[in-house]
Amino acid sequence: MNPQITSFQQYQEVYNQSVNDPEGFWAEVAQNFQWRKPWKKTLEWDFATANTKWFVGGKMNITENALDRHLATRGDQAAIIWESNDPEEESITLTYKMLHQKVCQFANVLKKHGAKKGDRICIYMPMIPELAIAVLACARIGAIHSVVFGGFSAQSIADRINDAQCNIVITSDGSFRGNKEIALKSTVDDALIQCPSVQKVIVSTRTRTPVSMLKGRDVWWENEVKTVSSDCPAEEMDSEDMLFILYTSGSTGKPKGVVHTCGGYMVYATYTFANVFQYQPEQIHFCTADIGWITGHSYIVYGPLCHGATTLMFEGIPTYPDAGRFWDVIDKHKVDILYTAPTAIRSLMSFGNQFLENKDLSSLKTLGSVGEPINEEAWNWYNENIGKGKCPIVDTWWQTETGGMMISPIAGITPTKPGYATLPLPGVQLMLVDEQGNEILGNGVSGNLCIKFPWPGIIRTTYGDHERCIQTYFSTYKNLYFTGDGCLRDEDGYYRITGRVDDVINVSGHRIGTAEVENAINMHLGVIESAVVGYPHDIKGQGIYAYVICDKDLEDKDLARKDILASVTRVIGPIAKPDKIQFVSGLPKTRSGKIMRRILRKVAEGETSNIGDTSTLLDPSVVEEIIGGAL
Ligand code: WT7
Repeated sequence: MNPQITSFQQYQEVYNQSVNDPEGFWAEVAQNFQWRKPWKKTLEWDFATANTKWFVGGKMNITENALDRHLATRGDQAAIIWESNDPEEESITLTYKMLHQKVCQFANVLKKHGAKKGDRICIYMPMIPELAIAVLACARIGAIHSVVFGGFSAQSIADRINDAQCNIVITSDGSFRGNKEIALKSTVDDALIQCPSVQKVIVSTRTRTPVSMLKGRDVWWENEVKTVSSDCPAEEMDSEDMLFILYTSGSTGKPKGVVHTCGGYMVYATYTFANVFQYQPEQIHFCTADIGWITGHSYIVYGPLCHGATTLMFEGIPTYPDAGRFWDVIDKHKVDILYTAPTAIRSLMSFGNQFLENKDLSSLKTLGSVGEPINEEAWNWYNENIGKGKCPIVDTWWQTETGGMMISPIAGITPTKPGYATLPLPGVQLMLVDEQGNEILGNGVSGNLCIKFPWPGIIRTTYGDHERCIQTYFSTYKNLYFTGDGCLRDEDGYYRITGRVDDVINVSGHRIGTAEVENAINMHLGVIESAVVGYPHDIKGQGIYAYVICDKDLEDKDLARKDILASVTRVIGPIAKPDKIQFVSGLPKTRSGKIMRRILRKVAEGETSNIGDTSTLLDPSVVEEIIGGAL
């Protein structure tokens, strides 16, 4: 489907070509897709106004590329293999023909309920085949999907629905996660009290948990599909029509709706999938992410399917029924490519190797890592115990905003180094800058990571607020896209991501804005103020450390701690719960009232003496108290 690089020398040639003639390079790649009408101009861009258009004037539909195009050549090949949370439940295989039929059918259900091109549809579902079907059905009719991860709270769902003014929600009765059963529909019901734009809720059955179905608003997926045909021609989309919105946290305010468009995203997700993993026909690709995150969008759904691959969707968690579950899934389905997060690797590593005994992992060819920096110990364990020293590891650096992988080895081709995402992929032009935005040249240096030229998967806007897109990504440094990450370029020119340089923390590969957590904590009665920072955590990469000032008369600190956790769970969701809460009587503030997070980070890291300069603080004595009470 997509051309693949076959040697390191060729990578270098292709990379150079992609820099010397980006438009020519991407135009050639894009030729491998099915377009209804060819584009007139390959690229138009201006970073100052955050405007990028790829394949301008081209007409297409991503589902024709993900489904229809494969029917003649691989209609009976598995498109999706689904593995249940429960190892006893039978897995499901959907061939390209079956998936095409189900997507068309559900697309007709959406149409029946009034959905049309440009509408926003919120999807809040477990990792079941219906989730992928719902996503593709939206794309089929040109509706813009906004998938909300199944772990988010009613409040988070409501905020996202209202921001995008969604008119339909697709959900399930509940979801299974390990030995837990989680209600989804009732959470949606709670959210919708605040969401007047929503007209219809389509509910698929998973857990058979009792749900309340509102007359006139709620319908069952299973009933609806029986009422429609499975013939649904794809809507013709412009390259730059919106494909989806995906909310992600930043350093300020509420999560932003990152917007990706049809043409460029398709080309980028597919090209990077085919090349980085060196996918070979018939291989089984197992990406362990949830479709609620960008990794799932690009490397469970769109990238693999547009490339005609077989993608494995796993409903459960790595530790259920025991810490050998991933290895069982790999053994059972003869998985070729495993793409997971360092946090999962570290967690499974901590159980020791007993769960690897009697697991046949010989089908594995390539291992991937994504979401956070991978430490050397975890890299080595992954390499030795999972890859048995024979599988290349691709440490892939990218972001929700980039649509696809940006810095990564090409499996088996780019020489790797533990902890390094290595080199930029074709079309990716990196630049390291200092605080003032001056380019840092040469090797053996570090700085803030920027990108100086657009690639097809680049964020197009933040939904409903283009100014915010300009401010967040294109204003820190003139004419550069700023990633928010710090980065090192070593003596060999290899890149290593050192972590966020803004107020975003990365907990188990999930991006969490400290301001968001603070807002959630501050909503709790009795809390006067709080400050949240990240600290190194053995398994999660970073943990959440909250310093909280409470009302004087708050006596029971243990209860207060529990209440605060409940508040955060309610406002954001369990993933944002602080790991540590320290009650303090004051926060280290400058005379202008700014919290000196640098100090709080040091204390959270366990530092007691080298706190640095505190002379500009309004009241330096609070530092003593904070150090004294550090957890
Ligand atoms: C942030 C983006 C991209 C899919 C999952 C996360 C961090 C991501 C790596 C990596 C070091 C990484 C960065 C980035 N990150 N991949 N291989 N090595 N850090 O997407 O939620 O948009 O988060 O995750 O800090 O900015 P996201």
